[in-house]
Amino acid sequence: SKKGRVFSGARPTGRQHLGNYLGAMKNYVALQKDYDCIYCIVDLHALTTLETTRDLKQNTFEMALDWLAAGIDPRESIVFIQSHVPQVTELSLILSMVSPLGKLTDLPTFKEKVRMQPNNVNLGLVSYPVLMTADIVLYETDIVPVGIDQASHIEFARETVRSFHYRYNTTVLKEPEIKLTEVPKVLGTDGQQKMSKSLNNHIELALTPEETTKVVMTMVTDPQRQRRTDPGNPDVCNVFSMHKVFSSPEEVEMINTECRRAGIGCVDCKKRFAANLNASLAPFREKRAALAQNPDEIWDILHDGANRARVIAEQTMVKVREAVGL
Ligand code: ADP
Ligand code: NA
Repeated sequence: SKKGRVFSGARPTGRQHLGNYLGAMKNYVALQKDYDCIYCIVDLHALTTLETTRDLKQNTFEMALDWLAAGIDPRESIVFIQSHVPQVTELSLILSMVSPLGKLTDLPTFKEKVRMQPNNVNLGLVSYPVLMTADIVLYETDIVPVGIDQASHIEFARETVRSFHYRYNTTVLKEPEIKLTEVPKVLGTDGQQKMSKSLNNHIELALTPEETTKVVMTMVTDPQRQRRTDPGNPDVCNVFSMHKVFSSPEEVEMINTECRRAGIGCVDCKKRFAANLNASLAPFREKRAALAQNPDEIWDILHDGANRARVIAEQTMVKVREAVGL
């Protein structure tokens, strides 16, 4: 049997990019080997920042396609949409009664959201970590894999479980363990900022090879290297960082040497990266195209996931309601 249950959620941001892949999806796929995994598309969380839900369904669908094509296996893992298991909203409300408001408004992630959307500081934004806690404990999660920037949310979840237990003199909830995961910071095509859809510096996994090459050719390399004849510095070049992920060790070594003595130019270097990236993504793209032929099957997988998740959720809620005295 496996080592325990993992839960992770991600907001439905539509077609995933290289940052999502290297920073999250790749790890999701790998964890399936050792853990019982639950992967949730958190559409309710998305509502805290969205001003329109026009694209929500489509973004959910596209993200599910990417996850499944990348190797998240719905026979091994539970893949579902958060709002399809409404017990999470009930648990979130109950947990909100033991969630200190001051602690929530002190979280750096909340302060950042206030900076990002000063005209939409809604209650959902404040209680975001409470809903996240509800997600985690509803499914009796043992382990939550997170990067260091999300660790405070899991610490909040652990404290909330303890507060709930203390308030209602019970031990029905499982306190989740944090599994600190090294999340590489994938830079965007600008070579400066984190790759992100909102900054439009991203490379989508589902692009065609031609589209991929076109975007890769816009990538910013070592800014000090102005002319083809200038030697470059791979250590500060984002294209070189990407080669280290997608190219063979021999090619990486060749580029490392040749760039420094102007033996290879940035255009050639980027063409090589585009070719290797396309080769590496070919099986994913093939599988994605096949899956996209039958949208009903994707929705069936998500509904089946919700049915399996709901069974666990209701078991937890029976215990919670009884502990609270509802
Ligand atoms: P969410 O709000 O669900 O975290 P994002 O689209 O911001 O939605 O990110 C989804 C996942 O992809 C997160 O685990 C995040 O850390 C990862 N991710 C997104 N962009 C990058 C990036 N540029 N580098 C590394 N990881 C990233
Ligand atoms: Na994020």
